[in-house]
Amino acid sequence: MAETDGAPSIWYDSDIQHVIITEDQIREKTEELARKIAADYAHVDSILLVCILKGAVMFMADFSRALGREGQAVELEFIAISSYGQRATSSGVVRILKDLDRDIAGRHVIVVEDIVDSGLTLSWLMKYLESRTAASVEVVALLRKPDAIKVQVPVKYVGFDIPNEFVVGYGLDFAERYREMPYVGVLKPAVYARV
Ligand code: IMP
Repeated sequence: MAETDGAPSIWYDSDIQHVIITEDQIREKTEELARKIAADYAHVDSILLVCILKGAVMFMADFSRALGREGQAVELEFIAISSYGQRATSSGVVRILKDLDRDIAGRHVIVVEDIVDSGLTLSWLMKYLESRTAASVEVVALLRKPDAIKVQVPVKYVGFDIPNEFVVGYGLDFAERYREMPYVGVLKPAVYARV
């Protein structure tokens, strides 16, 4: 196995053309977001975090623990809705694959999202959650692409604005792979040719 800076390189490293966000940057930003949100929600007993599966799972795990370290109590819920599947472009079709397990009426909800691209998924989900009479619904997204700004998705908390490139890692996949990468990067064109 090849060595990079003393650390063994892992199979996925050689599929990455360039790194967009490092593991350290993700950790620091997650802590910063948690500090801000804990301050904004200081009046709330317990925030209901709603993770959008599967892409946001890594961010949910790290962000919920960062909020906990800030002293903010949280409860975790998961929802799965259809997204890109095996393609690298948005379908715009939203379908619930796994619904929330409980009533969210009167709760202060924060949707935990990996990346906002066209914003279609999120704007649909916001309406869905509001129709279930949550007390408030906000969004924390680790990443945001330029198109999301055009459609004015109400994402109150954003980690990083990134270029309009298809990225993988830290929960984000291409054809269900690369989710376990601890950083976010862009794939080499040769990887797409293999599929
Ligand atoms: P939107 O509805 O176009 O905002 O798409 C949101 C969803 O598409 C995200 O939650 C991701 O699951 C997926 N997605 C968007 N951009 C990327 C990307 O660059 N890599 C992997 N998945 C992406």
